[in-house]
Amino acid sequence: MTRVAVIGAGPSGLAALRAFQSAKKKGAKIPEVVCFEKQDDWGGLWKYTWRTGLDEYGEPVHCSMYRYLWSNGPKECLEFADYTFEEHFGKPIASYPPRAVLWDYIVGRVKKAGVRKWIRFNTPVRMVNYDKKKKKFLVTSHNRPKDIMTTEEFDYVICASGHFSTPQVPFFPGLDTFNGRVLHAHDFRDALEFKGKDILIVGRSYSAEDIGSQCWKYGAKSVTTTYRSKPMGFKWPKNFEERPLLQKVEGKTAYFKDGSTKDVDAIILCTGYQHYFPYLPEDLRLKTANRMWPPNLYKGVVWQDNPKFFYIGMQDQFYTFNMFDAQAWYVRDIILGRIKLPKADAMKKDWKKWLKREEKLADAEQMIWFQGDYVKELIEATDYPTFDIEAVNKTFMVWEHHKMDDIMGFRNNSYASLMTGTMSPKHHTPWKDELDDSMEAYLRNA
Ligand SMILES: Cc1cc2nc3c(=O)[nH]c(=O)nc-3n(C[C@H](O)[C@H](O)[C@H](O)COP(=O)(O)OP(=O)(O)OC[C@H]3O[C@@H](n4cnc5c(N)ncnc54)[C@H](O)[C@@H]3O)c2cc1C
Ligand SMILES: NC(=O)c1ccc[n+]([C@@H]2O[C@H](COP(=O)([O-])OP(=O)(O)OC[C@H]3O[C@@H](n4cnc5c(N)ncnc54)[C@H](OP(=O)(O)O)[C@@H]3O)[C@@H](O)[C@H]2O)c1
Repeated sequence: MTRVAVIGAGPSGLAALRAFQSAKKKGAKIPEVVCFEKQDDWGGLWKYTWRTGLDEYGEPVHCSMYRYLWSNGPKECLEFADYTFEEHFGKPIASYPPRAVLWDYIVGRVKKAGVRKWIRFNTPVRMVNYDKKKKKFLVTSHNRPKDIMTTEEFDYVICASGHFSTPQVPFFPGLDTFNGRVLHAHDFRDALEFKGKDILIVGRSYSAEDIGSQCWKYGAKSVTTTYRSKPMGFKWPKNFEERPLLQKVEGKTAYFKDGSTKDVDAIILCTGYQHYFPYLPEDLRLKTANRMWPPNLYKGVVWQDNPKFFYIGMQDQFYTFNMFDAQAWYVRDIILGRIKLPKADAMKKDWKKWLKREEKLADAEQMIWFQGDYVKELIEATDYPTFDIEAVNKTFMVWEHHKMDDIMGFRNNSYASLMTGTMSPKHHTPWKDELDDSMEAYLRNA
């Protein structure tokens, strides 16, 4: 029997499981699917843990999420086309759910699909090799509770282990003698730790924006962000400011490129993540920065050098859950023989065309339309339910404007579902005043 290994049970890996289960439900004969998951539960980054550093088995903690995190984009843009929010919650809900609500939604679909039995939890993959003679992958995994390592043969491997977990940590002179706490966003857990403190945030992307906003919301005395390329440019509240890049730290004093200084109590490095695959050999390992079109992937998923090896979710992301679905359905159909791969040179030509287009993208708006085109191309090739990509792109545009208008208030807006057409209700409490991020609080009627 054909065997498929899926590495990771986050949204991308779960999309792969759901894709196979949905084909089976429609009567297709599917391969044996085994999903290896390092954590003790599913949901990937959306599964919160209080731990930082190493877990109870000594594995690096995967979680980069933190308490009080709410979706940073409208949920209408990430909705599954085959399982709507309304179906899951039994009623329309507001547009920027906190982490626990999104986790519940992600796992609701796969619970219904009955695929949990395909997953081996607490089982990190340690190594994958391709045996050219046998034409099989050898996947070595480690059952942590039993402390047993096993090597098994697979015909295909889908790598879905995520790329927002291993921090990218630059050094600034004086960090090693700074008289306060220095941490990377990956280890940030609770904004209340910084209540009453002057904090410095390095970076200008989503983590910088959101962790800075969180700290402000939960009572930091001041928030200073420092950028390398350009400021974020939002209309920040009065104790929140942006400065050019940090040059050095002396004692508690931060020195910036414009010659200014600021005394701070803590430094949070929101400097991004590495695509890090310590379990993959050189010939299968994706090497890329966080970008819209990582190289060497036909249709963004097929590994050029071995087209029986796939990656899901490795792009920088505006589209998320429904893009992972589009990718998973596409990969599934290659494995099921429904989609025929072209010859190697044609595959290369195709992804290089996308790469060339990606290199010319000038702003977030263009990136959104680019990713929308990509998702559309994949969806048209499979039986994943079609949805209005242009309408999703337009919702993203409205979201961007809402952020420019009011960075601490954009989450108070609501949008119509692009799957059901239902208008989402406004949340009962403005984001900046809602300190409770529990599912119960969010789902409570006004
Ligand atoms: C702080 C933060 C906030 C975010 N907020 C949003 C948001 O609001 N909206 C949004 O749409 N997206 C958000 N994202 C983007 C996020 O990347 C996606 O939503 C999504 O989690 C990606 O899914 P994934 O399955 O590709 O990766 P992950 O969610 O990272 O899941 C990967 C899984 O692989 C497992 N794994 C890793 N290594 C191994 C191994 N060797 N063996 C076995 N298993 C392994 C991990 O344990 C994990 O379960 C956020 C990301 C971060 C970091
Ligand atoms: N739900 C939420 O609210 C939420 C919260 C946090 C994160 N996220 C998600 O998490 C993902 C990752 O976001 P991210 O912000 O962590 O990573 P990112 O988007 O890759 O951004 C990395 C940032 O680090 C900066 N940087 C890197 N090296 C630097 C250096 N040496 N000096 C100064 N700055 C440096 C970059 O600066 P330049 O831009 O100048 O290159 C960039 O601003 C995104 O998908 C995002 O949507 C969501």
